[in-house]
Amino acid sequence: MSETSAQSASAAPKGMPRPPEENLKRIGALTYENYVKAGEQAATAFIDAFTKYSCRPTADSNVLDFGCGVGRVCFPLMERLDCRLFCCDVDRSAINFIAANTKNLFPLTTNYDPPLPFADHFFDIVYSVSVWTHLPAPAEAAWLTEMKRITKPGAMLFITTAGHPTLEAHHGRGIDTSFTSDELKKRGFVFNENKLHKKDPGLWPGVTDVYGLARHDPDYVRRTWSKFMQVVDVLPGTIGKQDLVVLRH
Ligand SMILES: C[S@@+](CC[C@H](N)C(=O)[O-])C[C@H]1O[C@@H](n2cnc3c(N)ncnc32)[C@H](O)[C@@H]1O
Repeated sequence: MSETSAQSASAAPKGMPRPPEENLKRIGALTYENYVKAGEQAATAFIDAFTKYSCRPTADSNVLDFGCGVGRVCFPLMERLDCRLFCCDVDRSAINFIAANTKNLFPLTTNYDPPLPFADHFFDIVYSVSVWTHLPAPAEAAWLTEMKRITKPGAMLFITTAGHPTLEAHHGRGIDTSFTSDELKKRGFVFNENKLHKKDPGLWPGVTDVYGLARHDPDYVRRTWSKFMQVVDVLPGTIGKQDLVVLRH
């Protein structure tokens, strides 16, 4: 280990190893400091949500981080929860990184399309950060169906979407200014495909089909996702700037 990486490793909070730069870029965390800070904030927001919806996991609970990337959220959560914490992603390098850095998580590389290798009704809680923000409508429906299959009746699910606060933050940075909040309200769901990975499969490893940027109006989520499970709440701008959809199986 070089002196620089030895120094930064010792400066890292417990449970937050430093992922390779290319993995940080893939999850939209431009720096390690940002990865640590955003992960800590998300972990705190999830613990608050588990408390609010009376589902704080216990030692017997099975919890899944779906689309975990390089562990931004599950590393800090693992430090604060006493439960079996599983995490999965299509990006094998991200899962290998998690596996190499802890024995306290159950990391798995999974396929881009369902099913997941878990039994019916296995999980008490599923949470997922910034995955449905990339899926087209057919994949959104297929994965909500799969989430229902792998969770126990009564289980709670916490899934982020890019709603109005995300759109406003993007507008503040001059991104996508032609696309207004009113338009999102009217259309409910907007998906823009990004085909870059079809030319460069190394860009998002494991993403083998349509992928892009999905935006959700909360009314659309309440209307559409309730066909799969009970939509308990849509909390605006709760994880970073993303909305948090709270579902009950
Ligand atoms: C924006 S990153 C977020 C990663 C992580 N949740 C976080 O907050 O740091 C989106 C992640 O979803 C993963 N992903 C995309 N489609 C997936 C799928 N169908 N199944 C599992 N993971 C998927 C990607 O590989 C990527 O790691």
